[in-house]
Amino acid sequence: MIKLAPSLLSADFAALLTDIEKAERAGVEYLHIDVMDGCFVPNITVGPPVIESLRTRSCLCFDVHLMIEEPDRYVERFIAAGADIVTVHVEACRHLHRTLSHIKEKGALAGVALNPATPPAAVEHVLHLVDLVLVMTVNPGFGGQEFIPAVLPKIRRIKNMLMECGVDAEIQVDGGVNPAVAPDIIAAGGTVLVAGKAIFGAPDIARAVEALRKSVGSG
Ligand code: DX5
Ligand code: ZN
Repeated sequence: MIKLAPSLLSADFAALLTDIEKAERAGVEYLHIDVMDGCFVPNITVGPPVIESLRTRSCLCFDVHLMIEEPDRYVERFIAAGADIVTVHVEACRHLHRTLSHIKEKGALAGVALNPATPPAAVEHVLHLVDLVLVMTVNPGFGGQEFIPAVLPKIRRIKNMLMECGVDAEIQVDGGVNPAVAPDIIAAGGTVLVAGKAIFGAPDIARAVEALRKSVGSG
């Protein structure tokens, strides 16, 4: 079954909880929380205090996507704040294997993310450690960008690599996902769809969730 992970980046920041509750009622599996530091990406979003506060009001799986330099410095704080999944970028980690091990030791699920320009080989040595591989289909930093179809073969390659090493990790696809491109993503091997503009940016969150599910035949 395909999982949906609406990205908080496109929610109404003055009414976060209302939007989250709508998504939760619509039956999404994860809440994708984009954390940006203004350094790894040219944008700044939210940090542990916001997650901690939302944690007291939502039972959704908090899927925290760290777009920050040297995420090791903050992993423990995000887990203590309530992150269920912590995903770090291979491009931002000096010692990726150590960072992922650290996430798992602290009790969260571990994800590794790749920018569009990063080849799959960059994560080959850590596949046995991860619960999720996040394939970026836009250059990270902003919501509402256009999906880059040239990344589709990389999704397929990662699926094959996971199968070859017998690892049952999710393949999360993030950036420009909407009902028009979702079928190609699933055909390539994606299992979790992140969607900001297409869910929280839509006029009706419940209908948007339904449209995305239908597009991949899992509604
Ligand atoms: C981009 C973020 C994404 C993004 C998704 O840097 O990691 O999660 O906000 O938003 P859409 O679906 O609007 O591209
Ligand atoms: Zn993201």
